[in-house]
Amino acid sequence: MSFRIQPQPVTRPNRCQLFGPGSNTKLFAKMAASAADVVNLDLEDSVAPSDKTAARANVIEAIRTVDWGTKTVSVRINGLDTPYWYRDVVDIVEQAGDRLDLIMIPKVGCAEDVYAVDALVTGIERAVGRRKPLGLEVIIESAAGIAHVEAIAASSPRLQAMSLGAADFAASMGMQTTGIGGTQDNYYMLQSGQKYWADPWHWAQAAIVAACRTHGVLPVDGPFGDFSDAEGFRAQALRSATLGMVGKWAIHPSQIALANEIFTPTADAITEAREILAAMEEATKNGAGATVYKGRLVDIASIKQAEVIVKQAEMIAAQ
Ligand code: COA
Ligand code: MG
Repeated sequence: MSFRIQPQPVTRPNRCQLFGPGSNTKLFAKMAASAADVVNLDLEDSVAPSDKTAARANVIEAIRTVDWGTKTVSVRINGLDTPYWYRDVVDIVEQAGDRLDLIMIPKVGCAEDVYAVDALVTGIERAVGRRKPLGLEVIIESAAGIAHVEAIAASSPRLQAMSLGAADFAASMGMQTTGIGGTQDNYYMLQSGQKYWADPWHWAQAAIVAACRTHGVLPVDGPFGDFSDAEGFRAQALRSATLGMVGKWAIHPSQIALANEIFTPTADAITEAREILAAMEEATKNGAGATVYKGRLVDIASIKQAEVIVKQAEMIAAQ
């Protein structure tokens, strides 16, 4: 470990973030009753320009009146390139009350985007005497966002989570696809005439995970557009979990149980992690820094790997 210790992210489950348009009031109670850890009430791209003002009012009303239980409640505001965002922040922070946990900033391109929202939120919080400091989350979904990802991860003590937004990211990068996440037909290697599909989102995901882990922010995988393709969702989410992401968005209720399952360590993984910790405890007692578990090397680094799984499982079980 560097002299500078890796900071820990906020301790709360973030396996599934369920989105719903702020213009669709019928969905709010269903979102609150769902099994998602986080609900994201959207004012941005799922809301038509003519509905922006009404959606803002709907969302404020819903945050104040719906029973959100233990969920983390987040509002996605409009991007800083729009005429809507400042009014989103002012009205939401002034009027939504302390049940609101997070504001999500879309299309963040530089650390100053977060600074601007932080400054506005801080001023309003002081003016209205908000008791619980509001958190922020961001979406990396542009070439600028991924180019400046580390500075963005370090941008504010309010920052709790960072998601990859595949659709806008693909558009900004000029990628030749209209798919939202998942396998892309034209992204393959050829070996002896056989196609082997690779993952075009891998680099952006790994960059986000590294930036987030450096600065104590939760890395999250964004939407998977084809909600009729459960196996495609599963494959994408398993890759994200393997890379270190802690959760994934759901844009339809059918994706919630899948995300919860995939981002909860399995009973087998927890058992194995606990056995590795026990084997290493035994080794340490005998003065050894390494030992053999099921025919393979485990050493002091294995303790940290196993602890990632055990701590994640304990944190989820504690909720
Ligand atoms: N949250 C909670 N419940 C939802 C939901 C959501 N996001 N989306 C749909 N449902 C409910 C429906 O109301 C319906 O409930 P019912 O059985 O009581 O009638 C049920 O789930 C089945 O819905 P379905 O008919 O399959 O979908 P739909 O055609 O009503 O809606 C979408 C499909 C994609 C338009 C809708 O899921 C949606 O708006 N998703 C979120 C989009 C979004 O927020 N995008 C921004 C982030 S990328
Ligand atoms: Mg987007």
